[in-house]
Amino acid sequence: MLSDDAVGLETAARALREGRLVAIPTETVYGLGANARDEQALARIFAAKQRPFFDPLIIHVADMAAADEVADFSRPYARQLAEAFWPGPLTLVLPKRDWVPALATSDLPTVAVRCPGLELTRRLIALAGVPVAAPSANLFGHLSPTTAAHVAEGLGNSVDYILDGGSCTLGVESTVLDLSMDPPLILRPGGLSLEELRRIVPTVELFDRATTSPRAPGQLPNHYAPRKPLRLFAAGELAALVGGRVEVVGPAGTDDQVRTVADALVPRVVPPYTAALAFGREVCAGLRASGLFSEVRDLSPGADVLEAAASLFVLLHELEVGGCERIWAERVPEVGIGRAVNDRLFKASDKEADTHA
Ligand code: TXA
Ligand code: MG
Repeated sequence: MLSDDAVGLETAARALREGRLVAIPTETVYGLGANARDEQALARIFAAKQRPFFDPLIIHVADMAAADEVADFSRPYARQLAEAFWPGPLTLVLPKRDWVPALATSDLPTVAVRCPGLELTRRLIALAGVPVAAPSANLFGHLSPTTAAHVAEGLGNSVDYILDGGSCTLGVESTVLDLSMDPPLILRPGGLSLEELRRIVPTVELFDRATTSPRAPGQLPNHYAPRKPLRLFAAGELAALVGGRVEVVGPAGTDDQVRTVADALVPRVVPPYTAALAFGREVCAGLRASGLFSEVRDLSPGADVLEAAASLFVLLHELEVGGCERIWAERVPEVGIGRAVNDRLFKASDKEADTHA
């Protein structure tokens, strides 16, 4: 574990240059960094994460000059978007430069590039003097880490150093925008909202899981799985449930998921050791008062989607190691970064019906 002082930065930068794996803090989540010019170092990322080679990496750069060396920014909107939102939580998918190793792009003609918002990360990359390939620093398919401790728990000895930059302020991954297609397509909602992107690219579209097949593994519906079953409810549904107005009967996401029942049935609705993950002080107080949940966690006491994003992975990590057997979570408002929070909750959820008997 390295601290974010001059010695820590120098050590991390040298390790990166020399082809070692360094977990790095960013404003979104921690990344598992390696020298993007070093194919052996890239191969070690896939080994440490147990990540399939068909899932390409994001290359992180300290500034625009370095980004130009990674990707071709002559595509419409590319330079404008970088000027508007970098450094920040936006990853651009663009035609790659020839030198970029096939391992980093899974042999695609495009590359994902981002200039992170955290100053510490940019200082580290500049000091290393090489572009840094970094997926989120978790085992493939597991929760993304938002603290150095999460990284240590998940990856342990398979990483050479962890640079401790504290908790990630945003808490969900960057928005991945594919500029190689027309109109540009958001492959993954993230820290930069659809509303903000539309200011620059009015035609931008959000990848729709229902109508389009996945182009990147980050779009696979089961990508972020906590190790406990998570059942996802619509906003307001948990409160209605403990209010005795509905009972869960069918597969999540279907119309017959809920049906009205008498108040007397309510105590049988929630199985024992179910943790609730909800949004807003009042909603959570109601869930606690019901006595039906083994614990109730609040994504945002202030009912603010930014706060929910920052606490999402922290709370999921805590619930994963805690005493509950399952998690019942409620969607947050589908606005701004709330879309990214709902996307991650959906990916973490069981798509099959879970029995509650
Ligand atoms: O916030 C973030 O983006 C974090 C921090 C560390 O920067 N990184 C991150 O990386 O979330 P990762 O590998 O977990 O997610 C990168 C996503 C994956 O879904 C991958 O499939 C997609 O970006 N991606 C990478 N290169 C691509 C390409 N050439 N075309 C389409 N999708 C690509
Ligand atoms: Mg990831």
